[in-house]
Amino acid sequence: MTASPFQDIYHGAVSVKPATPASQAMVAAMDPLLRKLLPEAEHPGDAEHVLGKEVMLQRVMPLRMKIRMWTGWNALVKQLLEEQGYDTEGVIFDTPHLRVAPIDVESGDGSGDAPAAHRDTWSAHSGAQVNWWIPLYDLPREAALPIFPAYFKAAVANSSSGFDYLEIKRRTLFQDTEGEVVTAPTTTEPFDMSNEQRFAMNAAETLVFSGSHLHGGARNLSNRTRFSVDFRTVRRPDHDAGIGVANVDSAAVGSSLIDFYKFAA
Ligand SMILES: [Fe+2]
Repeated sequence: MTASPFQDIYHGAVSVKPATPASQAMVAAMDPLLRKLLPEAEHPGDAEHVLGKEVMLQRVMPLRMKIRMWTGWNALVKQLLEEQGYDTEGVIFDTPHLRVAPIDVESGDGSGDAPAAHRDTWSAHSGAQVNWWIPLYDLPREAALPIFPAYFKAAVANSSSGFDYLEIKRRTLFQDTEGEVVTAPTTTEPFDMSNEQRFAMNAAETLVFSGSHLHGGARNLSNRTRFSVDFRTVRRPDHDAGIGVANVDSAAVGSSLIDFYKFAA
């Protein structure tokens, strides 16, 4: 078998890729929808200052669900991978999510709006999963998604034990997508956050990293709401051959691959 094109990512590589026509098309598709929902501000990231966090989130929530049904993703996800130089043979993907991270004005434990730090494997995602994360607007470093590379191969105490993908899916299927946030396993003990990697990014640039990296838990310390789109891919032959990142600490049961799609021809 030929080597996987994602080998460097399985070894922990984290990179910010330049914007491409496909990532720009994703941003161009989402931006007017947000502007329409949040007309009070010139920039959607400032609407929270006018409306308050709760109203802003209520406005955007239906869109978060609606865009998951958008049929345009298939072609754009495939195109984006190809533009970044990846062979898409055997690659499957999940439907992109629109994420909203309000400004974090509290000085508490960071347990507010962003999901706490986690590996996607704790939620029964594949060790061969690659995450693609795209900010819809220019992003200062203090609003960026943090990754903790020091824990790539080091176990972290977490709540994945008892996480059963099918069971969680049954429970959340008819709820709004925030249900996922409530039930997704997270760290259960403090860990060393001093090694975090955060990148200032421009709109439509793409952060690419293994879903096995410890990531998230970010407090948005900027003055604007952060809007981003992300999706996940898995090269199925790699997953089937056990190629990817070895599991160091997930006790999750089941597999999220039942929700991944092949690219339409
Ligand atoms: Fe994640």
